[in-house]
Amino acid sequence: MSSTPRTTASDPSFIYSLRAVTEAAARAAYDWIGRGDKNQGDLAGVEAMRDALNGMPVGGTVVIGEGEKDEAPELYKGEELGDPSSALQFDIAVDPVEGTSYLAKGMTNAMAVIAMAPRGSMFDPGPAFYMEKFAGPPAVRGKIDPKAPVADKLKVLAEALDKPVSELTVYVLEKPRHKELVSRIHAAGARVALYPAGDVAGALMAAIPDSGIDALMGTGGTPEGVISACAIRLLGGEFLGRLDPQLPSEIIAVREADLDTSKWYGVDELVSSDEAYFCATGITTGLLFDGVERTRSQEKTQTLMIAGPGGERQILTTWHPRPKGQ
Ligand code: FBP
Repeated sequence: MSSTPRTTASDPSFIYSLRAVTEAAARAAYDWIGRGDKNQGDLAGVEAMRDALNGMPVGGTVVIGEGEKDEAPELYKGEELGDPSSALQFDIAVDPVEGTSYLAKGMTNAMAVIAMAPRGSMFDPGPAFYMEKFAGPPAVRGKIDPKAPVADKLKVLAEALDKPVSELTVYVLEKPRHKELVSRIHAAGARVALYPAGDVAGALMAAIPDSGIDALMGTGGTPEGVISACAIRLLGGEFLGRLDPQLPSEIIAVREADLDTSKWYGVDELVSSDEAYFCATGITTGLLFDGVERTRSQEKTQTLMIAGPGGERQILTTWHPRPKGQ
């Protein structure tokens, strides 16, 4: 048998193995809901996700993780997980707790997220933490000029969705940096849905027709951007991203790495394969699915699963029996 890793994986049942990874992270993070401690909640999710990934019969390298090895002992960028001898080798993008502040504050919308794509097919953002994003439904795929004024983008979106601009709702993170963006969306006549965190949920909703959100605009995390791009490529929606460093140290690192902050990356550049997989399990109940519900005998989880070419989308509800005495 050849020792060269196969770089494709079109087994539709693979998504059912992968959902166990985000379910494990969500169930571990559940203990930290509303306890005011983002870090412990994140750590619980990281450890559970890493253990679950290591039990998988495929191999993978973390491309989007918890940071570099020095600051993140687990799920760090470059970490190899799973079975190194497997013929299936993936790029892995993880966010064991997307919305750590939601988790710590006991608010809705925290989720555990993973995306996997064949080895070498995921964009590596280097030291860039922030990315300006546009996400939208399949109807606008290839039609949005990311450099166009906000009002023009909304016009194209409205035409593609066959409704007036006044009926569009744009998901924006509620951050001081978005004051002007919000004014422009309002001036164009559209609605803005402001959320303090969680732009993976916003991007997914933007790409899912009739979700109540028509687009996502603004700057959020680069890791969340690549993870969203993976899901949206499979869904056939639009995702565009531009590195948009915000932190002084990040600005210097991005410049030193010679990364182009004027370039808008298309969804196919951020993830260059359709043979990818995405799972998100609710930790707290959110816009797309329920969070973990625990009783004495069982835990219920809901997981959004998006699989491979064709982008089949399912929400799976699972009841996990709990060992006696826990
Ligand atoms: P965390 O899970 O790390 O708290 O990230 C939540 C989030 O809101 C992401 O969804 C978003 O991409 C990013 O933070 C935005 O970062 P910031 O809050 O620094 O603007």
